[in-house]
Amino acid sequence: MTKKKRLAVFASGTGSNFEAIVNACEAGKIPADVVVLVCDKPGALVVERAARHGVKTLAFVPKLFPSKADMETAIADFLDENEVDLVCLAGYMRILSSTLLSRYGGRIINIHPSLLPAFQGARAVERAMEYGVKVFGVTIHYVDETVDGGRIIAQRAIPYEGEDIDELFGLIHAVEHELYPATIVRLLAER
Ligand code: GAR
Repeated sequence: MTKKKRLAVFASGTGSNFEAIVNACEAGKIPADVVVLVCDKPGALVVERAARHGVKTLAFVPKLFPSKADMETAIADFLDENEVDLVCLAGYMRILSSTLLSRYGGRIINIHPSLLPAFQGARAVERAMEYGVKVFGVTIHYVDETVDGGRIIAQRAIPYEGEDIDELFGLIHAVEHELYPATIVRLLAER
């Protein structure tokens, strides 16, 4: 039997995508285990979710590290110790630098709530709505040192012409929770 792959999820907030990925692993839909959560906000809801699922967590306050390089070295060491195969960023609101990318480059993916390269960065959905966009979307891509840059792996369009931002977020999350696990399955099969 082939060894199950080991996933890390990085998140900063609510963690609904974390939950979707963990649930898919627990249900056997993703042939992998989420072995660690990395979180830069110790009080975030995602930390509670990880505890409920028994997922080991590295939660830290970034400014307590002398530098970003020190912080990312600690993260990469933690990933090494836990033999992580693939890193999934899910609402992790930080740009990665070469310290982490030199050790895990090509093995880090991210989900973003827009049809990239449109609306990179924070408040993507709000900004798209303010712009009058009629087709929203979700993108999953490899991570490089740029904000929501890196080669695109999967995308799904979400037509929406209403003005209810909460309804739109609901549609986007529903797509994310299906597309992220499905894309992880595809990537693991290709590896
Ligand atoms: C998701 O919608 C994800 O696409 C977005 O943060 C949200 C996290 O939600 N990521 C970005 O904006 C990355 N630039 P969650 O905490 O409920 O999974």
